[in-house]
Amino acid sequence: MTFAPKTIIEPFKVRSVEPLPMTERDDRLRHLETARFNLFGLRAEHVTIDLMTDSGTGAMSQEQWAAMLAGDESYAGSRSFFELEAVVRDLTGKKHVIPTHQGRAAERILFGVVGQRGHVVPANNHFDTTRANVEASGCEALDLVIAEGKDPTSDHPFKGDVDLDRLDTLLRERGASVPLVLVTVTNNTGGGQPVSLANLRAVRALTQRHGVPLFLDCARFAENAWLIKEREEGQSSRSAEEIAQEMFRLADGAMMSAKKDGLVNIGGFLALDDDELARRCRNALILTEGFPTYGGLAGRDLAALAVGLREVLDERYLAYRVASVRYLHERLAAAGVPLLNPPGGHAVYLDARAFLPHIAPEDLPGQALSVALYLEAGIRAVEIGTVMFGHTDASGRQVPSPMDLVRLALPRRVYTQSHVDYVIEAVRYVHEERRSLRGLRIVDEPPTLRHFDCGFEPLEAAT
Ligand code: F0G
Repeated sequence: MTFAPKTIIEPFKVRSVEPLPMTERDDRLRHLETARFNLFGLRAEHVTIDLMTDSGTGAMSQEQWAAMLAGDESYAGSRSFFELEAVVRDLTGKKHVIPTHQGRAAERILFGVVGQRGHVVPANNHFDTTRANVEASGCEALDLVIAEGKDPTSDHPFKGDVDLDRLDTLLRERGASVPLVLVTVTNNTGGGQPVSLANLRAVRALTQRHGVPLFLDCARFAENAWLIKEREEGQSSRSAEEIAQEMFRLADGAMMSAKKDGLVNIGGFLALDDDELARRCRNALILTEGFPTYGGLAGRDLAALAVGLREVLDERYLAYRVASVRYLHERLAAAGVPLLNPPGGHAVYLDARAFLPHIAPEDLPGQALSVALYLEAGIRAVEIGTVMFGHTDASGRQVPSPMDLVRLALPRRVYTQSHVDYVIEAVRYVHEERRSLRGLRIVDEPPTLRHFDCGFEPLEAAT
């Protein structure tokens, strides 16, 4: 007899706890009104389950906290830096390791150095801060994800893959104006979908042929490696670490927001081989971030990251992580809730347009659904749709984005299965009651990145 459990238990015990805020519906309505129905305006203490992001919201392990106590706070040459450098070199195979305070600092430094007006940076999809930093450097940010990556109903296992024909054409026609090719693993903007090793190898061959460097935006590299192990033919017997190491060795460099798969609350880095590029990045780093052996972080942050980058490749952790995202996805799909398929590495995305077909895209179905999840259950999600990527035209009407999604991102090692069960119950309840939901309109908005602090007003019910 062998016990073969189906339940994938959290591979950790909880020894330090934080109370879960519990609120009443009347209070939540008041908080929504105070926040002008913008969930970024809520106080976290009024949120029961916070699924706004998986970035910097994870729980650290006892080994990470212990490493923090032993962090070396020297301005230059900190021991904690050398610990981090050794771990990142082993993982990525890159010679130069340059810490930064978070991912977008690494983006600004890299594109500030390699970007030029009129040039173009192709990627599967750029994350929004990556796009902003590419564009701030004068380059065009071009998304070349495969067609399946844009279809919410497609079950393609690697919807983060780059369209190789389009990349080949671009490199043939404009190769001299491409400072680097970027591949985001997993592809957050496209739904946390993984990139296959076969695709990365093919992108490598193309970039090599055209003499253009290849970089990874590796915020969720470990989840990507695990999904390769689970889904790609011939990869199941390799370890997640081996797969991750191969992913990095196919690239010339990487930039990381360590707030995701670094399992820390703050941090990032650049890793690369090119000596001259590294020198220029370090110069830019000193200007705004700090000396190259701390890069805007405390020594203790470097120490915690060195431990986190090893822990994240623990296969029991990765199996549990991806299984909990899949669990949420499968239970919601079984209840008929429209979702972006298949489940990715860090989040489940509700298809708000299909969820609320009676709310026109101009009336912001994604925002309506996010507001309802908070009002009914104290759950905070994030709208990834018309509010984030659409705009108001000259006549004051909303120009919708291609999709209206609501992202439920799971922080790492924070919530248990019963928390996830609560989320499933809440989404199902809102789905059953969906016909009572109304749209919203924007009543005030800033000129850029409006989703962070624009104000909304619920529309009156149609009579
Ligand atoms: N690249 C990717 C793929 C990201 O998802 C993020 C952040 C960044 C870069 C920027 O890193 O926040 O450390 O400066 N994503 C967060 C999110 C904010 O909610 O998905 P950062």
